[in-house]
Amino acid sequence: MKVTVFGSGYVGLVTGACLAEVGNDVVCMDIDPGKIDLLNGGGVPIHEPGLDVLIKRNRAAGRLRFTTDLDLAVAHGLFQFVAVGTPPDEDGSADLQYVLAVARGIAERITDYRIVVNKSTVPVGTADTVRGAIQAVLAGRQAAVEFDVVSNPEFLKEGAAIEDFMKPDRIVVGTDNPRTTELLRALYAPFNRNHDRLVCMDIRSAELTKYAANAMLATKISFMNELANLAECLGADIEKVRVGIGSDPRIGYHFIYPGCGYGGSCFPKDVKALERTARDVGYAAQLLRAVEDVNERQKLKLYEKVEGYFKGDLGGKTFALWGLAFKPNTDDMREASSRVLMEALWAAGAGVRAFDPVAMAEAGRLYGERADLVLCESPEAALRGADALIIVTEWNMFRSPDFDLIKASLSHPVIFDGRNLYDPVRVKALGLDYYAIGRGD
Ligand code: UGA
Repeated sequence: MKVTVFGSGYVGLVTGACLAEVGNDVVCMDIDPGKIDLLNGGGVPIHEPGLDVLIKRNRAAGRLRFTTDLDLAVAHGLFQFVAVGTPPDEDGSADLQYVLAVARGIAERITDYRIVVNKSTVPVGTADTVRGAIQAVLAGRQAAVEFDVVSNPEFLKEGAAIEDFMKPDRIVVGTDNPRTTELLRALYAPFNRNHDRLVCMDIRSAELTKYAANAMLATKISFMNELANLAECLGADIEKVRVGIGSDPRIGYHFIYPGCGYGGSCFPKDVKALERTARDVGYAAQLLRAVEDVNERQKLKLYEKVEGYFKGDLGGKTFALWGLAFKPNTDDMREASSRVLMEALWAAGAGVRAFDPVAMAEAGRLYGERADLVLCESPEAALRGADALIIVTEWNMFRSPDFDLIKASLSHPVIFDGRNLYDPVRVKALGLDYYAIGRGD
């Protein structure tokens, strides 16, 4: 089938590459010529495991093309996937300008039936807005062309996006036209392992499903972080509590890991946007507000521990920082806890020696040259000359470190662990002070 994907960001590239992989003829369109040149030259603008291989294979097979040519893009696909960004406005609501620009671009050019499939995370009601924008342009052109607008939210996790797309647990499709549902069912048939994964519903419910999923997951994390803080006050160990509650299948073990706050391009933005949507319709979403507040506070948790340990005297101190990305297997530092921590340390006059397996270039891009940030080539190098070690991201390579080396390198033998990677008893027995999240210290 012929597919066009607008927006060659993380969602668009994964969608385009995976749809090409199962045999579709895919054109990915982006307005950024630099990005398209890079892709046409064999490069990949984001770090996502497996994406480079998929893009290479499908480009070579002629099933995946990249272009800035809007005419070609609109003429190509029966399915016109919209996967452009919806950055938050100052008030937290999603900015739809890029989505609407694509919709108008399509409307100005279509000559026969097209399905506009919205993959971007957009507020409930956006499909109606998109439909209205297309209708207005078509009316101006005096063109009577049939089209449908569909909501098909993505549930991809950065770092596991290819796997999530190729083996989805569900494919949510919101339509108001049974014919479109059947066409999407055919497009997604290769991804239906064992049983039909399509969950069909009306458009508004599909739009809300995306926010509901992310808000629920963010709520689980903030709930656990709240309990972790309480455990600290009560002298309990949240890791034992986690296992104790996770064994109840109604709660489950997934996504109840306490830590130094959630980050990334999705949870913070989507929780805020949903709360804003609620406010717009006159509903005070108190729980969502609290989820957000708990998370903001949690991102400062490591800083507070460090400050407490050094009795507020951080000026001139140097901290080794392991992990900059908002989570492992990505170089994404959007809304990362590391940024809140580093900025607080710098404000207190401290310096940082940081290491991350893939996010070093991103950190350099974000912060540039500065005297209080040294980007080191290894975890061990980050320790050199540091007063203490702080761990922010749970990369596998940090899980079993040389504790003797850590102890010998630091002027104060202490680890602040924002992801509860180690057994406190063992670390303390090795002669290191150890402060984790919700573990009674
Ligand atoms: C999230 C959702 O998990 C995806 O299903 C969704 O499609 C995506 O947003 C999106 O809307 O595009 P992602 O942002 O890639 O995916 O990252 P997650 O793996 O969900 O992690 C988010 C944050 O929560 C990370 O900072 C992570 O460290 C934190 N987290 C996660 C915890 O603190 N505890 C946990 O138990 C799990």
